[in-house]
Amino acid sequence: MKALEAAGVCKRYGSREVLKNFALSVEEGGFEALMGPSGSGKSTFLHLAAGLLVVDAGEIHVGGADVTKMSDFEAAKFRRRHVGVVFQAFNLLSDKSVRDNILLPVRLDGARPDEARFDSLVDVLGLADKIHSKSEELSGGEQQRVAIARALMARPDVVLADEPTGNLDADSAKGICELLKRLNATERSAILTVTHDPVVAASAKRVHFLKDGAIAATHETLGDPQLVSKLYLECFK
Ligand SMILES: Nc1ncnc2c1ncn2[C@@H]1O[C@H](COP(=O)(O)OP(=O)(O)OP(=O)(O)O)[C@@H](O)[C@H]1O
Ligand SMILES: [Mg+2]
Repeated sequence: MKALEAAGVCKRYGSREVLKNFALSVEEGGFEALMGPSGSGKSTFLHLAAGLLVVDAGEIHVGGADVTKMSDFEAAKFRRRHVGVVFQAFNLLSDKSVRDNILLPVRLDGARPDEARFDSLVDVLGLADKIHSKSEELSGGEQQRVAIARALMARPDVVLADEPTGNLDADSAKGICELLKRLNATERSAILTVTHDPVVAASAKRVHFLKDGAIAATHETLGDPQLVSKLYLECFK
């Protein structure tokens, strides 16, 4: 079974067809990156895979369940238990504390927060002295790290991350890559991350290029950012 498998996915906004017969699969326990120019439909696909947007056609299986067949309510429950989503625009509750934001999905699910997990995430993400700050009082990079902690809190089977390092400096971005690699290795969370950064893409095992509404190519990254840049330029020249 694949961690994620999309087939025949079509999505249009008005007359603009963003995804056309789009197919993508992420290996079980895989760490994979999705790259493509701005406006190519990367966020659209992540929102579809998270059950936050409705497809016009096609199927998207996440951990074996077809999210396109779920009601909003079922999709919300499924996300809380199985999927960690890091949104490009963070989607934090601005008047709530960092702690409340990170624990929100777990609490909505009626579960008791795993305090050791919380402590370890805020520690590794450099948020330990911010947990009582309101998220609106944080910098963009701090908010991004809160969004990452929230997505990882419940040990999701699948992480869908939309440019998780887009607001971070190179060192912090490297830290996020290390964290994702470690969780991928130790907890077997499958990860699909959208990124414009070849260094982030190279921490993934495979990279997919989105072009004209579908995946034009998939490559092993071999952990080599220069290789990713070269392949990207070849695909999008
Ligand atoms: N709700 C919407 N209504 C109409 N058009 C939309 C909507 N959301 C996205 N689009 C359009 O669909 C296309 C794909 O958007 P999407 O956000 O998926 O791109 P992206 O690949 O994530 O880009 P970026 O790298 O800039 O984040 C864009 O042309 C965008 O303008
Ligand atoms: Mg986007």
